[in-house]
Amino acid sequence: MQEILEQIQKLGIVPVVKIESLEDARPLAAALIEGGLPCAEVTFRTEEAEEAIHIIASEFPDMLIGAGTVLTIDQVDRAVNAGARFIVSPGLNPKVVRYCVEKGIPVVPGCANPSDIEQAIELGLKVVKFFPAEAAGGLNMIKAMSAPYGSIKFMPTGGITEKNLLSYLDFSQIIACGGSWMVKEELIHNGEFDKIKELTREAVMKMLG
Ligand code: 3PG
Repeated sequence: MQEILEQIQKLGIVPVVKIESLEDARPLAAALIEGGLPCAEVTFRTEEAEEAIHIIASEFPDMLIGAGTVLTIDQVDRAVNAGARFIVSPGLNPKVVRYCVEKGIPVVPGCANPSDIEQAIELGLKVVKFFPAEAAGGLNMIKAMSAPYGSIKFMPTGGITEKNLLSYLDFSQIIACGGSWMVKEELIHNGEFDKIKELTREAVMKMLG
């Protein structure tokens, strides 16, 4: 597995964030670090994503920062130039995946069924995102797909909370879970960074048992 993906596996959770205001980038990164999860997937769902990645990557060098909702090669370039160290997408776009593979950029595309996984395998991937995890069949679906595709590892995302986190992480083919429950849009919007830190810490404590 690529080193960045190994780091993600060690962390266990990838907080998925949507940053609407650049002012939020620093306190958000600080809250995640202080909460014990020095990692974030900043989604390209806002104009601010690229600059937010740049701010976090340059001011918080210990933070493992990636880009999410990456749908085009142009966004890959913008994300990586801004400092993103991994790329996540909701689906599997072969152009985007091939581009990342050629450039050695860790990429975790969304797969929701066996056909997606076979495409990922053909493109040389060993780790995929399972999205939208709960809606697409949850842990049962991952377990069923792990039978034929034993070498593939998953990063389920979508509908994961502190309640079902451990059931996912207990399965050996899952390297980490993505989720927004500790960095919900309204918490960021309302500047509730202490709450974000607290929810992050709770999630980390849960993983530590
Ligand atoms: C997303 O793309 O929004 C992520 O999958 C996060 O999903 P969640 O908000 O259900 O955690």
